[in-house]
Amino acid sequence: MVVTFDVPANLKKQFSFKQGQYLTLEVEIDGETVRRSYSLCSSPLDDAWQVAIKQIPSGKFSTYANEVMKEGDIIDVMQPDGRFYVDVDTSQDKNYMAFAAGSGITPILSIIKTHLASEANATFKLCYINKSVASIILKEELEALKNIYLDRLEIYYFLTKEYRNIPLFDGRLDEEKLSTLFDKFIDLPSMDEFFICGPEAMIFMVQDFLLAKEVSKKQIHFELFNTSGSADKLAEKDYSAVSGNEAEITIMDGGKSFNFSIEQGSQNILDAALANQADLPFACKGGVCCTCRAKLVEGKVDMLANYALEEDEVEAGYILTCQAIPISEKIVVDFDQ
Ligand code: FES
Repeated sequence: MVVTFDVPANLKKQFSFKQGQYLTLEVEIDGETVRRSYSLCSSPLDDAWQVAIKQIPSGKFSTYANEVMKEGDIIDVMQPDGRFYVDVDTSQDKNYMAFAAGSGITPILSIIKTHLASEANATFKLCYINKSVASIILKEELEALKNIYLDRLEIYYFLTKEYRNIPLFDGRLDEEKLSTLFDKFIDLPSMDEFFICGPEAMIFMVQDFLLAKEVSKKQIHFELFNTSGSADKLAEKDYSAVSGNEAEITIMDGGKSFNFSIEQGSQNILDAALANQADLPFACKGGVCCTCRAKLVEGKVDMLANYALEEDEVEAGYILTCQAIPISEKIVVDFDQ
């Protein structure tokens, strides 16, 4: 389902967004506060705030949105955020390419609409991976765009569970298919920017392929959907060298500070702080969105995953608190820097 938010006129400036950014929504479900981030599928040019929420089995928020939420409901929405975009550039004729899997199409749709509408000679090539024709979301919107931009938008549909006797487009996207695609249909060196959105395995397969073809890292932009949970990543780690030792943690936020202690190597700083009644910013809890970013002023942490911070930010001491496991006795984290 596509949810459209009616943003009051006095908040429109605060809620202005870039193509590819997301909104974080929060609702109470059975007494529990549930927060999820959804990419905006509308374009900033539309003056509309829309997200597509696909119901996933046992997905708390998506089931609530699809079965309980109704027109006229009021829910908490955080300001748009995210780094999955490049600025619109009307002075260049850029060739863009995107890879999307399933609901990974949502930010990509916004990105396609925005660049094609704003840049007169830009072109877009989209590889869109789904299980079957019936499961393709936002297909009508994509086809409508194709009708508007006949010469500038090309869409290649890959189906993983439905066979059409076209070997290139049937089954999982892999390196071999990418090679064929670029050999036969797409001139790789003429592409300027690449956007990839979907599950981890697909993103890194495409990214590694492009890097091996000498595409620079700066040209590759990705947004992870469905990361494997932090609990799984934590379980794979060995913190026996520090476990049993206490970490005294100081959090600075909004000009105030507070302290609590947890066992080193036991859990991430964000969850521990939230359990201690802190009101800190977070959204994905998967190391993707950067909402929980803070500066490590003192101490040592081990980051389970980082899909959001740039190298220079890490060097400057920034951490994703949802991924930061304390591994020293004293830790000071500043959310105000
Ligand atoms: S909450 Fe998204 S990176 Fe930590």
